[in-house]
Amino acid sequence: MKKKLLAAVIVLVLVVTFTAPAFALDAPSRVMLSWTAEPATTMTVTWVDADAVTAGAVRYSTDKSLTDAAEVKATAAPNKSVIDNDGARFTATLSGLTPATTYWYSVGNGDAWTAAQSFTTAEAETDNFSFAFFGDIQVTKTAAEDFAAWGKLAEAAYAKNPGLAFALQAGDIVESGINTEHWSEFLNAATPVFSKIPFLPTNGNHESNFLSGKPELYRDTFTLPTNAPEGFSEEFYSFDYGNAHVLVVNSWVFSGEQKLTDAQLDALDAWVALDLASSNATWKIVLTHVPLYPVHSDTTGVKAREHWVSIFEKYGVDLMLVGHQHVYSRLQPMTGGAPDYEDGIVQIMGNSGLKYYDSADETYAERTIYNVSNYEVISIDGNNLTVQAFDIDGTELDYLALSPRESKGATRAEFVDLLWRSIGSPTATGGDAFSDVPANSPYAAALLWARSVGIVNGVGGNRFDPDSKILPEHMRLILDRYNTIGGAAK
Ligand SMILES: [Fe+2]
Ligand SMILES: [Fe+2]
Repeated sequence: MKKKLLAAVIVLVLVVTFTAPAFALDAPSRVMLSWTAEPATTMTVTWVDADAVTAGAVRYSTDKSLTDAAEVKATAAPNKSVIDNDGARFTATLSGLTPATTYWYSVGNGDAWTAAQSFTTAEAETDNFSFAFFGDIQVTKTAAEDFAAWGKLAEAAYAKNPGLAFALQAGDIVESGINTEHWSEFLNAATPVFSKIPFLPTNGNHESNFLSGKPELYRDTFTLPTNAPEGFSEEFYSFDYGNAHVLVVNSWVFSGEQKLTDAQLDALDAWVALDLASSNATWKIVLTHVPLYPVHSDTTGVKAREHWVSIFEKYGVDLMLVGHQHVYSRLQPMTGGAPDYEDGIVQIMGNSGLKYYDSADETYAERTIYNVSNYEVISIDGNNLTVQAFDIDGTELDYLALSPRESKGATRAEFVDLLWRSIGSPTATGGDAFSDVPANSPYAAALLWARSVGIVNGVGGNRFDPDSKILPEHMRLILDRYNTIGGAAK
């Protein structure tokens, strides 16, 4: 009898252990905002609910009471990974919103709804706004304590700067990318602020550790802009807010973990260049994890620089926001590895968690700060951009003012070549060459393909005028035609 009871207790303990994860939920929570489309007219909401919940929705209205609220049904979040047993994840995008308007919303499942929360849509056009930047978060002691400390930093940032339009984060959000406890504690800490303003991160090396080389739980957790190159969703994306273009790129692709071929890396380079060349924004800001100018030796960072820095220089990037090396570091404006106060790009490394390095190479640094968790406020006012770095008490640690760099722009042939390379350099099936793009031109194959699939027509007289700067309306026309023909062209 006693043996049977003991066995029953053991079975019960096993059942409890395996069916009740420590972070199981019994109601919708961990609400986060982001964008997958226009900041002026849409908002994307993600949340987590109890495992058994299979349907969710967002109710929203300009009226806080949510009487007569509109309702958008959620989809289960995409990219479910095999180890994600930590609740049911949902995402919904509200569209057709009015610019510069405050909306109240609640997420739920018919039985349980979260308390009403608000966000404000972007103005239709603005050149006057600010956003926050957070460096690495990670865990040094326990997930609950460390993420709570970061949550307090985020709350301090938002309390001091209630007008923040959104926040960027430099990756290494968690210490272990495969640890659902870390992701849950991160979301618990992030929700108070980032259910009010969108949170747009990049992935770091600590989001990795999957056999695929992809940041699987990172992709489960977030729903981000959808313009990534094929196969790299949420690792690469960009969006526009007012007169700024933000490009987010996964520098960890250069670690070798994804086993990418040179041809695949070349296609990613072309996608990065195409994205920047297509933007006429006054300000171009790149967010990535591994610094292109490392302050500790780092072969991945050096490879990222070899691939991308000349692209960033040519297409007018003003500011690189990075993480990875656990100090605050602002470098002098740099061109090709050397200081350049005329036309260089500034790199700022943030560190918003409790993991600190107590040394850094300061050769090119204008300001380095050790052992202080910090956040940055980037404020744009027309052609002026300022960066202020703060600690949790709101003490200003650093200040920088920038004027926009100019994009050197792409020629007509270069632009078509970038589009062609970004989709893997497809071979044309027949068609004629333009008379001014001969077979020995470096752009011959790209133009032959582009003409054969009907996305370029030339300037008349069988000519393409390859060396003139491409006009913005022609870039848009070519991209629109490409999007219309879609996969058929590949
Ligand atoms: Fe890192
Ligand atoms: Fe890190």
